[in-house]
Amino acid sequence: MKALLTAGLEWIDARFPLTKMWNEHLAQYYAPKNFNFWYYFGSLALLVLVIQIVTGIFLTMNYKPDSALAFASVEYIMRDVEWGWLIRYMHSTGASFFFIVVYLHILRGMMYGSYKKPRELIWIFGMFIYFCLMAEAFMGYLLPWGQMSYWGAQVIISLFSAIPAIGEDLSTWIRGDYVIADATLNRFFALHVVAVPVALLGLVVMHIIALHEVGSNNPDGVEIKKVKGPDGKPLDGIPFHPYYTVKDIVGVAVFGIIFSFVVFFTPEMGGYFLEPPNFVPADPMKTPAHIAPVWYFTPFYAMLRAVPSKLGGVIVMGLAIFVLFILPWIDRTPIKSVRYRGLLFKFALFIFIISFIILSWLGTQPATQTLTRLAQVFTILYFGYFVFLGVMSFISPNWDNVKPVPERVTS
Ligand code: HEM
Repeated sequence: MKALLTAGLEWIDARFPLTKMWNEHLAQYYAPKNFNFWYYFGSLALLVLVIQIVTGIFLTMNYKPDSALAFASVEYIMRDVEWGWLIRYMHSTGASFFFIVVYLHILRGMMYGSYKKPRELIWIFGMFIYFCLMAEAFMGYLLPWGQMSYWGAQVIISLFSAIPAIGEDLSTWIRGDYVIADATLNRFFALHVVAVPVALLGLVVMHIIALHEVGSNNPDGVEIKKVKGPDGKPLDGIPFHPYYTVKDIVGVAVFGIIFSFVVFFTPEMGGYFLEPPNFVPADPMKTPAHIAPVWYFTPFYAMLRAVPSKLGGVIVMGLAIFVLFILPWIDRTPIKSVRYRGLLFKFALFIFIISFIILSWLGTQPATQTLTRLAQVFTILYFGYFVFLGVMSFISPNWDNVKPVPERVTS
């Protein structure tokens, strides 16, 4: 049997680099030996991507992308399709978990300076993934054709009309009609089911190829490739397989428990994952009293509402995402990990995280005068993080040089 398998593998290897790829990306990919909790989220993001694609395929088998049928087809999936409720709740919960996992993954990168040289492209691919993920979630949310699907899309697409000169035409072009309508639902379905997932998959492949080209960063921010043994292997590296494949199973198991708990016991998550107005079919004649996007968009929504002018709000919202793209060129200190950076950086990062969390809460609330003021303060603090890092790096790239970075990783 073994001889047969070996012969089969040899046959494949002579025609396709299977063993070579296995070695390059798993068995002989040397990863730093000091990965911690924060390094679970890359593999978990891959897992959620697979969950979304598989459940999405099954949903598509029974969903009808037609404004007269869409809402009822989702109800049909929930009530009559065998295991349809499970597939649908896994997909809707998966969307929120995708953002939880990706936000923690991004935060890890910000803590350990994983966006810095030589990993700028891994970061840029990551940001494009994040951008596609937002587009994917936004278009997916229109598909059940509930009240919030309809009015949420109406609000967001009408933002484009704030752009001078071309705005009105642009938003009509995106909708394919003067209001959200059947044409919008059809194109969003095509983009959500085919175009964006293909782009996402391509970007994830490039993200990982770029990572494996330069090697992983780690909680110490030390380049393990600098210290190699006589065999040419990094002294602080261990083969990804079996060490990290086994470690990642722990992450997958814990994730599975939490994910299942939400899917089985609280799939609506108190209105945060599935909003109550979305259990009512879309009605173009009746605007809901309070329109709010799903929680993962609310930090940016809060920023949008914090600015009095519509165009200004759109620009601020766009800038909030754009600054993340250029973070590698804003923060130019050579020290990567937060462990060896000064108190000022730690404090700034802390304020940034708090601002993001408070903004996301503010975005779910009605925009009263007090809350709008608060949103303005935290929007300034959000941008303050980037301005602070940029100015300090400009004055002196070594402003944060307060603690010596070790030669080797500390385990
Ligand atoms: C579908 C979404 C994503 C998937 C599947 C994914 C996957 C991965 C995987 C498997 C790794 C290696 C394991 C790890 O370091 O945890 C990784 C590393 C990395 N990712 Fe992502 N990622 C995604 C989104 C993002 C986003 C949105 C960003 C931020 C802009 C990002 C930035 C990074 C960085 C900087 C690294 C290198 C980390 C280091 O070496 O310390 N990723 N990603």
